Amino acid sequence: MKKIRKLGILTGGGDCPGLNAVIRAVVHTAQREFGLEVCGIMDGYAGLIQKNVRKIELADVSGILPRGGTILGTSNRDNPFHYSDESPGGRKEHCDISAQAMATIEAHEIDVLLAVGGDGTQNIAQLFFEKYRLPVIGIPKTIDNDLNGTDVTFGFDTALNTATTAIDKLHSTAEAHHRVMVIEVMGRYAGWIALQSGLAGGGDVILIPEIPFQMDKVCAKIIRRAEKGKRFSLVVVAEGARAEGGELVVARQVNDASDPIRLGGIAARVGNQIEDMTGIESRYTILGHVQRGGSPTPYDRILATRFGYHAVVAAVNKEFGCLVGLRGNEIKTTPIKEAIAEPRRVDPESDLVKTAMAVGTCFGK
Ligand code: F6P
Repeated sequence: MKKIRKLGILTGGGDCPGLNAVIRAVVHTAQREFGLEVCGIMDGYAGLIQKNVRKIELADVSGILPRGGTILGTSNRDNPFHYSDESPGGRKEHCDISAQAMATIEAHEIDVLLAVGGDGTQNIAQLFFEKYRLPVIGIPKTIDNDLNGTDVTFGFDTALNTATTAIDKLHSTAEAHHRVMVIEVMGRYAGWIALQSGLAGGGDVILIPEIPFQMDKVCAKIIRRAEKGKRFSLVVVAEGARAEGGELVVARQVNDASDPIRLGGIAARVGNQIEDMTGIESRYTILGHVQRGGSPTPYDRILATRFGYHAVVAAVNKEFGCLVGLRGNEIKTTPIKEAIAEPRRVDPESDLVKTAMAVGTCFGK
């Protein structure tokens, strides 16, 4: 393979705090340590389709470390291997325009593509790697923390902080009004945000996708608390949680996205059922995209910076088709193919779940 001179970087999928920190680390490491050029592909894979690629200099990444969002823009649509286009008749066509995206890579003489994203983004990176032998390095990000190949993704810690702060705020108003407060957090099909924010915020009930719940068990817990004089309860529910034998609650469909399902709305169902079944006044809050915003925590800034540095090192070492990830306290690489084989979900038998149960948390079982 020819000498590596230029790296391309894109941020794909839903944004999360820490993306700018990773971009900054990549640009600094590439230029200072290895004398490599970096160019940014705008708006995820859409930038390859629309030929929207810009050179990134050190000055461009100055001051971005504490900023949420991404200076490159992102998109959780625009899969070049399954691209949706509006045909003249108004019909959506799904076609493979990956060759067009590859032409952009070649026109800009990008030697290695650094793909920062969750499972959707890594899936596409893997397809480029397999179909075109494009040298790619994956960098795992997502507030959902549901990617394998790393113990934790950056963005998760900040989302966890936001969710815990929200639970703390709901705690005082729940107590004052003697109400049940149901808070819905994100996470897609994984319960990491709900479990950990619920534990940190002292949730009385935590409902996660990995443990389908029974409503009568949830209500029994709330009534037991009321009988002991605790006339309020906090219920933390993951957007992907569902009752035993029940369905996921879907908010909308985004047909040209890698995963078209957008979850949302379970909190309203759970809150209304609790009020009907216990007679205790209930309210619900859907925390939503606030979990993806804001300045990254120090943990996320450091993790993203480590990932950025190690991704450039992996590129220089030609570890193509690999994802950098945190293993214990070390950064290691794993084949992207292995990392995306299945999502990382909460183990219902894990120490975290057992600990939560030991301190009285009800999972609706
Ligand atoms: O994957 C990150 C995430 O925030 C999920 O937790 C959530 O289900 C989804 O993205 C929301 O996507 P959108 O930004 O398209 O509404």
